[in-house]
Amino acid sequence: MRIPDRVVRFVLKPCVFVASLGPVSWLVWAALTGNLSPNPLSDLTNETGVWTLRFLCITLAITPLRRLTGWNPIIRFRRMTGLFAFFYGTLHFLTYVIADRFAGLDFPNGIVAWTTVQNLAKSVGEDIYKRPFITVGFTAWTTMVPLAATSTAGMIRRLGGKRWNQVHRLVYATPCIGVLHYWWLVKADVRRPIIYGIVVASLLAFRLYRARRVAVVPARA
Ligand code: HEM
Repeated sequence: MRIPDRVVRFVLKPCVFVASLGPVSWLVWAALTGNLSPNPLSDLTNETGVWTLRFLCITLAITPLRRLTGWNPIIRFRRMTGLFAFFYGTLHFLTYVIADRFAGLDFPNGIVAWTTVQNLAKSVGEDIYKRPFITVGFTAWTTMVPLAATSTAGMIRRLGGKRWNQVHRLVYATPCIGVLHYWWLVKADVRRPIIYGIVVASLLAFRLYRARRVAVVPARA
C-alpha cells in the first residue's frame, strides 16, 4: 500500500491525534454533564487507567502490524501513541493524587499553604509504600518518564542510537507492570486484566519470535 508522505503527515497523523484526544474529551464532557456514575472520581481514575493500558498496547502493536502488513509509514505513529500512553498515565496518576489523597487531607492552614504540599507529598509517598498495587502502578508510571523524556529527535541524537534503544527497552516493561497493577487491584473478576495480559504477552511473543528468526536465518545462510 503506497500512501503519499504528505497524506500521512497532514491528514492521517492529525486524525490519529484528534482521535487520541477522544477519551479525555468524552470524560470531561461526561463529568460536566453529569453522565458519570455516582462515584465520578473513581470513574475518572479507572477510565484514565484503562486508556493508559490501551495506548501502551496500541504502541506495542505498531511494530508487529508493520511487519505483517509491510506498511512502513505506520512506524511514524509510534511516538505519538507512546506519548498519549504517558499523557493518560499522568492524568491517571494526577486523578489518583487529587481524588484519593488530596481529598482526604486536613487543611490546618487553608488549602493554599506550604503545609498542604508537604502533607500531600507525605500522603502519596506513604500510600505508594503501603499499598502494593499502588507501588506497582507507580513503578509502571515511573518507567514511562524516561521514555517520554527521550522521545524527541534531539534526545535521540544526544543519547546515540545504541543508548536510546537501551532506554527504550523499558517500553516492554511498562505494559507488563501495568497489567500486574490492574490484576492486583481488581477484587473478584480478573477477566479484563487477563485479557490485557494475553494481548501484551502475544505482542511481546511476536517480537521474541522475530528476533530469534532474524538471529537464526543469517547463521544458516
Ligand atoms: C502505566 C501506569 C498505569 C497503568 C497502565 C494503570 C492502569 C490501571 C487500570 C487498568 C486500572 C483499573 C481500571 C478499571 O478497574 O476499570 C487502574 C486503577 C487504578 N490505578 Fe492505575 N495504572 C497505572 C499507574 C497508576 C499510578 C501511578 C497510580 C497511583 C500512584 C495508580 C493508581 C490507581 C488507582 C487508585 C486505581 C483505582 C483502584 C480502584 O478504584 O479500586 N495507577 N489503573
